[in-house]
Amino acid sequence: MLRIRTFGDPVLRQAARPVTDFDDALERLVDEMLETMYDAPGVGLAAPQVGIEKAFFVYDIGDGPGVLCNPQIVETSGAHRREEGCLSVPGFWFEVERPEWVVARGVDIKGDPSELSGEGLMARMLAHEIDHLNGELLIDRLEKAERKAALKEIRQVFEFGGGGSLIPPRHGERKA
Ligand code: NI
Repeated sequence: MLRIRTFGDPVLRQAARPVTDFDDALERLVDEMLETMYDAPGVGLAAPQVGIEKAFFVYDIGDGPGVLCNPQIVETSGAHRREEGCLSVPGFWFEVERPEWVVARGVDIKGDPSELSGEGLMARMLAHEIDHLNGELLIDRLEKAERKAALKEIRQVFEFGGGGSLIPPRHGERKA
């Protein structure tokens, strides 16, 4: 089982590098990440969340496991506010606005072109995991006042200093 990095760990704030080697090591890592995600449990897990600065994530929203490498969001529509959690901010739920519909393109575990799309939870998962690959967390999607309150709440639970330090949210860097 892999250790899930939590809020304050700098690895969560770094932009992931593209996956270039579609080899056995990647397959093993994907298997371990899926196992870690199911155990958590969660519906998605991005590589930076287990300390790996590579641009891919695993997911299962109930229709079976999948993986997408080097994803880009190519289409969105609508907007939807709903409670959302993150395995890297355990115990917290925030109302986050996400597109209702998302199309993401990337490559699969073999390096072949792959496209994922969906509405509702699928759209939310895609937006959330791709945010992770850009060093963004769900609290970055909150309005300023909400974000301030969220940070205060989170700080009361997580300890900063030592292993990690609090890195302020970056404004105006919406990648989706
Ligand atoms: Ni997350």
